[in-house]
Amino acid sequence: MRVKRVSALLSGMLALALGVSSIGAQSQDPVLIGIGVAQTSNVALLGQEQVIGAQIAEAYFNERGGINGRPIRLVFQDTAGDEAGAINAFQQLIAAGVVGIVGPTLSQQAFAADPLANEAGVPVIAPSNTARGIPQIGEFIARVSAPVAVVAPNAVRAALNINPDIQNVAVFYAQNDAFATSETGTFQETVRELGLNLIEPVQTFQTTDTDFSSQIATALASNPQLVIVSGLAADGGNLVKQLREFGYTGLIVGGNGLNTANIFPVCQALCDGIIIAQAYSYALDTEVNNTFREIYKEAQGKEPPQFSGQAFAAVQSFVEALIAIDNEVGLDSLSLPELRAALNAQLRSMTFDTPLGPISYTEEGEIVQEQFYVAQIQMEEDGLNGSFVFIPIGDEAEEAEPQATPSS
Ligand code: ALA
Repeated sequence: MRVKRVSALLSGMLALALGVSSIGAQSQDPVLIGIGVAQTSNVALLGQEQVIGAQIAEAYFNERGGINGRPIRLVFQDTAGDEAGAINAFQQLIAAGVVGIVGPTLSQQAFAADPLANEAGVPVIAPSNTARGIPQIGEFIARVSAPVAVVAPNAVRAALNINPDIQNVAVFYAQNDAFATSETGTFQETVRELGLNLIEPVQTFQTTDTDFSSQIATALASNPQLVIVSGLAADGGNLVKQLREFGYTGLIVGGNGLNTANIFPVCQALCDGIIIAQAYSYALDTEVNNTFREIYKEAQGKEPPQFSGQAFAAVQSFVEALIAIDNEVGLDSLSLPELRAALNAQLRSMTFDTPLGPISYTEEGEIVQEQFYVAQIQMEEDGLNGSFVFIPIGDEAEEAEPQATPSS
């Protein structure tokens, strides 16, 4: 132990003399991992779930010895909900010496903040950015959140499975948000590919809007049997509420921005029935997911949601890649810039057994994931509590068993 400390001290002094910051200066110091997600603003409806998932991962991996005995420590910076907040948070995290960053919450923020991390050579794992083009921002950018093109079509298929008579489809999207704009493109393509009638014009709104009456009146005039909403949690939840208040009784598909129980206070009992594609299932029966699920349920009193599962998987990817580097060359042998570069490469060369199932990253940083799901919101009569009930996706209708577990 003493020898290790002395040598760590010497290598730290050497690094200082060379003007290189080495994370090996004191080899028992925690390895810092940045978490830059929305802890305030409306976007915190999603970001709060990411904080919880990341914190569970921190405790889980430290309990199992961290990086070969060296703990990890998460450094949190609130991005709030806009681009400026994400840029500021990323700058702070890079300056704090994190080895990598999990964040930001929105694709809209990622397009602004990720280039900074890329330029600084700091690996980023996007925990929830699903817009087209995220991994292509740069060589240091990866994502654990499967893109809209892979996930979103499942929800439309599941809706058709419930109501095969759907013909007219009304589509709404938040035109000031990069993810919603990307996601609606996929939804509209899917509607056309399935031979359904896409009602024109497609209705647009802003994520800051609270009144959707004119768009709703226009869309409902064409008698849709399915409405598809791509927005964020507050605006999307409000739009669903107003659709029902206007008397719309058909099916509603919500996009990834509505994929949280935090919309329940927004649309309350009127959230009932929203169909949302999922990149995570709490019912996945693996050791890591069962443990994650148990810890989450113990603390939160409900089933873990997708955003928490993805944040856990992002932290896990960093931790397991760091362990592999430590086994191979020793973290102490690398300066911080070297470690960041090695971590970025290592992430792309292994498979991780996460609560999302086994995942890996392509050379470009895109996630490779095997399984996706669709859930439907079931609200209780009080309009306060509800659950995400897994439902079959079209062609699996025969074999899939719906699973329901309350989650408020
Ligand atoms: N999936 C949403 C986005 O990419 C949260 O912005």
